[in-house]
Amino acid sequence: MENKKIELIRLLSQTDGKPISGEHIGRKLEISRTMVWKYIQSLQSQGYSIISSPGKGYILNSVPDSLLPELVQAGLETDILGTDIRHNAELESTNDYAKTIAKYAKEGTVVVAEVQKKGRGRKGFDWVSPRGGVWISIILKPSIVPADASRLTLVGGLAVVDSLKSIGLNPSLKWPNDVLVNGKKICGILTEMEAEIDRVEYIVLGLGINLNFNTDMLPEEIQDGSTTISDELGTYVDRLEFVCSLLYNLEQYYIHFKTQPFEELMERWIDSSDTIGRNVRIVTPSKMVDGRAIGITLSGGLLLQKNDSSTEEIMSGRCIYS
Ligand code: BTN
Repeated sequence: MENKKIELIRLLSQTDGKPISGEHIGRKLEISRTMVWKYIQSLQSQGYSIISSPGKGYILNSVPDSLLPELVQAGLETDILGTDIRHNAELESTNDYAKTIAKYAKEGTVVVAEVQKKGRGRKGFDWVSPRGGVWISIILKPSIVPADASRLTLVGGLAVVDSLKSIGLNPSLKWPNDVLVNGKKICGILTEMEAEIDRVEYIVLGLGINLNFNTDMLPEEIQDGSTTISDELGTYVDRLEFVCSLLYNLEQYYIHFKTQPFEELMERWIDSSDTIGRNVRIVTPSKMVDGRAIGITLSGGLLLQKNDSSTEEIMSGRCIYS
């Protein structure tokens, strides 16, 4: 049923506004015209506006502004990510939900919510997630050791950067998990895992992207340091296209991550970095370290040159520009 729906949406989307007959659809989908009509009615009940013109056929007028699986899948060009999409109108947190299904879910399963009620950021901070954003978690099952899991945060950042560039923005990466545009945060990444001592069972890669809403929807204390895609571009962007592009880019980087040495991705991250070369203060639960960010390590840590010229690798912490 779902595959036929996806094919039907693809067919309806490719007609350049011209009607497509029930007979033609039926032939392509190998179903009867009565079944075509049933699928059309089911789509209409979900909020698709489809005009039925007697004797001519069907025209897709508009689709719901919702990241419905069949809509995302109709535009996806991936083999691993998004073959299973769990869409929710509202969730507390897509990462939390993803963790409840991850053990038995297949690699690449995507959890998406239109709104999150208790979105989580790093270090227990809240992540405010109004309608119009992209709140998404991807379940990955790479054969890696737990120490390498942080690399996936960098991989996620690279994918977001490419998708933002493709819509005309000029993003940069702030270690460890932020994507910035014009120095303001537009995306945060929360990577969580379940692991044994020497083996990762699964990773949940949570991406929060401020897309079609105004910064004034965010808590006052973070408004100055945050931005959204629509604020930057002065217009709304197609959320579906953005998510398809994101999953495509993420899959390309993920395949690279699984099959090639990490150095190349590390170099790419450094090329897009806003952090390397800056004087920073890193705050961890146990200490505070000042220094100059001089590189990224193979484990995804930040390499700091301290004031006494010694170097230290910091694996995680809050990064404050001095
Ligand atoms: C941060 O910058 O602190 C990370 C923010 C991560 C937010 C995303 S939104 C989708 C996923 N679900 C969550 O609860 N958090 C992540």
